[in-house]
Amino acid sequence: MNRAPTRIKLCVIDEIAPGEVLKVETNGLTLAVFNVDGRFHVTDDACTHGPGSLSEGFLEGEVIECNFHQGCFNVRTGEVVKPPCVVPVRTYRSVVENGAVYIEV
Ligand code: FES
Repeated sequence: MNRAPTRIKLCVIDEIAPGEVLKVETNGLTLAVFNVDGRFHVTDDACTHGPGSLSEGFLEGEVIECNFHQGCFNVRTGEVVKPPCVVPVRTYRSVVENGAVYIEV
């Protein structure tokens, strides 16, 4: 049976300037929230390659570079852009409403 998605509030949009990323821990999830030119994308914070934290990485356009071994992911699709990462990072459907960022899980 289908269930309605649960909406989780992550932050208000003013907390993340364009080109910046914020780490958010909520509902047992540790997430990275990216502001790419006013569009908000959400991934798991943990790098799929090792102990890197994507919220501490370097964001350029839609690409986050992990601070640990400099592997890269596209934050919109989760796809690996540059090794040594191999496994895509999980992305979440994000919604902006009334100045706040939510995900639906
Ligand atoms: S831990 Fe992220 S690239 Fe290795």
